[in-house]
Amino acid sequence: MTTKSIFYQCRIAPLKPFVLFAAFAAFLIASTASAQQTNPLASDPRAAQAGGVIFRGQCATCHGADAKGLSSIDAPDLTLMWTQPGMSEDRVFTRIQAGVPGSIMPPHNYPDTEIWMLVSYLRSVAVTGSIEEFTGDENSGARLFTAHCSECHRAGISGGSLGPNLELITLRRSQAALRSSVREPSSSISRGYKPIILSTSSAPNVSGIIKGEDAFSIQILDSNQRLRGFVKSDLLSQDRDIDSLMPAFTEEQLSDSQLDDILSYLHQQR
Ligand code: HEC
Ligand code: HEC
Repeated sequence: MTTKSIFYQCRIAPLKPFVLFAAFAAFLIASTASAQQTNPLASDPRAAQAGGVIFRGQCATCHGADAKGLSSIDAPDLTLMWTQPGMSEDRVFTRIQAGVPGSIMPPHNYPDTEIWMLVSYLRSVAVTGSIEEFTGDENSGARLFTAHCSECHRAGISGGSLGPNLELITLRRSQAALRSSVREPSSSISRGYKPIILSTSSAPNVSGIIKGEDAFSIQILDSNQRLRGFVKSDLLSQDRDIDSLMPAFTEEQLSDSQLDDILSYLHQQR
């Protein structure tokens, strides 16, 4: 029964107390679910400190003691997340409480006050984007990106999809982490881009990234960026312990200053 029909009933039927109560309860649920919550501890400096203690105990194993993330398990740099479009304290609260479905970020069944302390702590270590300065040449970066990266990556409208879309990447990961992704891609492979080489009798040595998998089948995007499905019982071999499909760029192929140009270009895309 919707809230509207309850109110309608109230007007025409004799007022039964339980109907009123049900309507009131439905109203309460609806209003708490839709309202943007603000941090009730925002003005209390001790909240961030207490949140830091909880963070180091419960979150640092994945996000690092400094909240700057661990790329080996794809846990993002939480000091950069505030610059994402639409990010708010309310959203951070919900992500901590509900977790991120489909990832290893777990839900947290903590009292609201403790979650707000965590929000206060994360706010206190926030990097607002202006602190991480991008000093490269964006125009040169755009040209370099087209020449070396857009075959596999999008940043804006065009580009390949073998690698992740890099449009908002400077808001999720620090420049240091991004540089190491380009110099040593295999040291941390992004979730959703795990490489595989598999063979069937009709398709030997197909390399690609795993896009979906269940007990009986596997879907991969092959290195020609074609989506292909295989029945697992047809597989003659599969090798998952392999390097990233992203080539490592040495300083001879791409100098540090050229890489700075690319990062500045990506940052300007956000
Ligand atoms: C088991 C590892 C793990 C633990 C423990 C963990 N996280 Fe996470 N967290 C992740 C991963 C991985 C993601 C990225 C999920 C995604 O978007 O794919 C994430 C995402 C987040 C996000 C969303 C970031 C964004 O940019 O949207 C917030 C906020 C967050 N974690 C806070 C916390 C806090 C606070 C704790 C401790 C109470 C915590 N996490 C504990 C692994 C973890
Ligand atoms: C042949 C395809 C290919 C080319 C060319 C390529 N990449 Fe990648 N890239 C990938 C794939 C696949 C991944 C995901 C696997 C991984 O993380 O190693 C990736 C991952 C990344 C990541 C990590 C993204 C994340 O979510 O953390 C960054 C940053 C990146 N590439 C930047 C670049 C830049 C900059 C260039 C050009 C200089 C480039 N890539 C060229 C295929 C490519």
